[in-house]
Amino acid sequence: MAASDGPDGQTGDTAFHLIQYESERQLPEIMALIDAELSEPYSIFTYRYFLSQWPFLCHVAVDDATGEYFGCIIGKMERHPCKGIEVEGRMRGYIGMLTVTKQHRKKGVGSGLVKSVIREMIRRGCQEICLEAEVTNAGALKLYERLGFIRDKRLRRYYLNGSDAHRLKLLVDRQTHVDSPTADAKALFSNLYL
Ligand SMILES: CC(C)(COP(=O)(O)OP(=O)(O)OC[C@H]1O[C@@H](n2cnc3c(N)ncnc32)[C@H](O)[C@@H]1OP(=O)(O)O)[C@@H](O)C(=O)NCCC(=O)NCCS
Repeated sequence: MAASDGPDGQTGDTAFHLIQYESERQLPEIMALIDAELSEPYSIFTYRYFLSQWPFLCHVAVDDATGEYFGCIIGKMERHPCKGIEVEGRMRGYIGMLTVTKQHRKKGVGSGLVKSVIREMIRRGCQEICLEAEVTNAGALKLYERLGFIRDKRLRRYYLNGSDAHRLKLLVDRQTHVDSPTADAKALFSNLYL
């Protein structure tokens, strides 16, 4: 997705578009945006781990007028190992980081970023998508559950601050969505699966 190919949007009086990560020159602004909002500290090596291998799974919301970055999502995708079984595991997408600056929240930007990355993961063959969210993060849990993610397991003391996480999972097999879609998930995936 080139910068000009991203979906256009409007949040309040801010017109914006989504771009895909292109080069390390964008890294300082992306790190500043994410580090300001997430409870977990990430080193530059963590960012480089994601961005050098899966640049196509980092999408950024950019203010059309100022060029400022105000939202970002970073993911990866890998084949999940099947322990003890001689078959290939499922291709799993993973959302590592998601943030929207406070003044732009609750206007659909976060959901837009998640949908954009999910579409890219599905296009590239992901069969399931996972992430962890703090059990107290009501906003993020609501956002993901509206998109069809389900709670898989609770991970005790998952974060450095000692709090638990929910592992959330979205199954993107055709059967799953045809049989039991939420309203939003159906709208999101209908063009891909029906
Ligand atoms: C989570 C986050 C990315 C959501 O971004 P956003 O742009 O506000 O998301 P959206 O506007 O698309 O909201 C989607 C839904 O979630 C709800 N939601 C978002 N934030 C919420 C909050 N703090 N409390 C309750 N609901 C919230 C919205 O109301 C909306 O539901 P609705 O359509 O029924 O109203 C943003 O709050 C954020 O950056 N938080 C800090 C970082 C973080 O927690 N990241 C997630 C880590 S797993």
